[in-house]
Amino acid sequence: MTEMKPVNEATAAKADAPKKMVLPDAQTITYVKHWTDRLFSFRVTRPSSLRFRSGEFVMIGLMGDPDPKTGKQKPLLRAYSIASPSWDEELEFYSIKVQDGPLTSKLQHIQVGDELILRPKPVGTLVHDALLPGKRLWFFATGTGFAPFASLLREPQTYEDYDEVIITHTCREVGELEYGAALIESLKTDELLNELIGEGFWKKIKYYPTTTREESPKMGRITDLMRSGEAFADLGVPPLNAETDRAMICGNLAFNLELKQMFEDYGLEEGANSDPKHYVVEKAFLD
Ligand code: A2P
Repeated sequence: MTEMKPVNEATAAKADAPKKMVLPDAQTITYVKHWTDRLFSFRVTRPSSLRFRSGEFVMIGLMGDPDPKTGKQKPLLRAYSIASPSWDEELEFYSIKVQDGPLTSKLQHIQVGDELILRPKPVGTLVHDALLPGKRLWFFATGTGFAPFASLLREPQTYEDYDEVIITHTCREVGELEYGAALIESLKTDELLNELIGEGFWKKIKYYPTTTREESPKMGRITDLMRSGEAFADLGVPPLNAETDRAMICGNLAFNLELKQMFEDYGLEEGANSDPKHYVVEKAFLD
């Protein structure tokens, strides 16, 4: 489901915008796509000095409103996972739109050619370096938590290091799955990636989307589907174990905590950059 922003609304937002200025650490928007009335993705130019590992995040934002007394503007920044892989010439981000959110109420109106503040200091735990070698890599996402996996699914190392890659994505509604579903589908015809990683690399991926509040082929929270054994039966794999399975989690706080507990019960231990183990966790950065 693709929903383009009506021209009149976008134009009105532009007219209200302060006069264009050169922002500190400014990058230029090159592409914007609105996926639903609550979700959009965009691409920006990449600073030539920026190196990052697929799965990491950076601080991005816009200038805030002028202070009523001094008239001064301060940057309004939030942590965003980079959704593009480390080799990409541009940077991609996937964002929620919160109507009264300090940043996303403005960010949702960005257009090609606009400037974005991007602090070029990538960090994060959802990186290959934080996991021990394994056979099967699981990505668990809710909502915009899909973003770091959009990066890692286009990262050659993901397929070099693992025999199987399982991506689960739980959302309230079907439309919220569209960004991830389209990205995974696009891998099949991505000539560059098929050449770089190996023809048919995408066959290693098992995609398991579920919804909780709108009818879809697979309904329910991934946590419940794993507890009942249904998810493993559907995927044709055994439950996670420390010998073969590695996992990365990125979703809302309750989801992260619940999965973390489940993994500990399976005997998996949490890893870090300095101490690689079986799974890593990050929360989705919502406005
Ligand atoms: P539910 O609709 O049952 O709350 P949100 O939009 O609130 O961030 O939620 C995104 C998705 O994550 C929803 O489908 C939601 O299901 C699901 N979710 C929320 N909390 C948990 C949890 N603790 N375990 C598994 N899924 C969760």
